[in-house]
Amino acid sequence: MGSYDFIRMASYEDREVFFQLPAPESFSYIHSFSMTRTYLVFVTYPLSWNVSSILFSPAILPNLYWRNDVPTRIHLVHRVTKKVRVVETNPIFSFHHVNAYDGEDGKVHLDMIVYPNKTCFDELSLSSLRHGNVFSGGTFRRYVVGDKAVWNEPAFPRVEMPQIHPAFRYRPYRYAYGMGVNNNLVRLDLDTHAVMEWREPHHFPTEPVFVALSEKETDGVLVSVVYDSLQNQTYLVVVNATTMKSMAIMYLAVVIPFTCHGFFQEKI
Ligand SMILES: [Fe+2]
Repeated sequence: MGSYDFIRMASYEDREVFFQLPAPESFSYIHSFSMTRTYLVFVTYPLSWNVSSILFSPAILPNLYWRNDVPTRIHLVHRVTKKVRVVETNPIFSFHHVNAYDGEDGKVHLDMIVYPNKTCFDELSLSSLRHGNVFSGGTFRRYVVGDKAVWNEPAFPRVEMPQIHPAFRYRPYRYAYGMGVNNNLVRLDLDTHAVMEWREPHHFPTEPVFVALSEKETDGVLVSVVYDSLQNQTYLVVVNATTMKSMAIMYLAVVIPFTCHGFFQEKI
């Protein structure tokens, strides 16, 4: 069987295979991973690729299958020694890690948006969406990983496309942002479990990119590309990350199709 290869990049030109993790049974579908100051946090799921058939398949989704015999595995790869610790946990799937950090207890704290199975893929298929079905989103789940993985799920609404203040990656943090399932942008307070939202009826936001204004966690704005279905136009919205109120709206000359990910570039 093959391996998952981790690439370390000093620049776009300067890159090396930093680590190779064997894939024991099959290749899991991997969408993202996270890091702490000590570990790469790499999670494999029971959702696996049928590698041999994908080469000849016109569509991606039929080549993904759920393996009831494979657990979810949280791999903690030490960033210096490259020693791997594997902790198995209940079957889940996740597109997006939110954040991870080393806890004072020596355990790794890992936040992800999770799904109990592969139904999320079925919901995202064109045939499902064309029948008017909506994507029901994922669940915010916090793992504390020691010898075993313990998790809890704060009572947040379902969410996707998580974002945080970039200076708080690898660190304890309090606020996460994302797309809600009511065509809204949400702010999740991980301490109080309070939820705030930005929403305009008949408007459809995409991933809220957090643009930091200072090192303070709440000091920033969310930028999102929004489709205004009443006017059939696209605009950029800038939302205050503390109040979740719109600060500015800029209509664009063209309609932009829905996108997945973006990032903020201060200088071009
Ligand atoms: Fe993604």
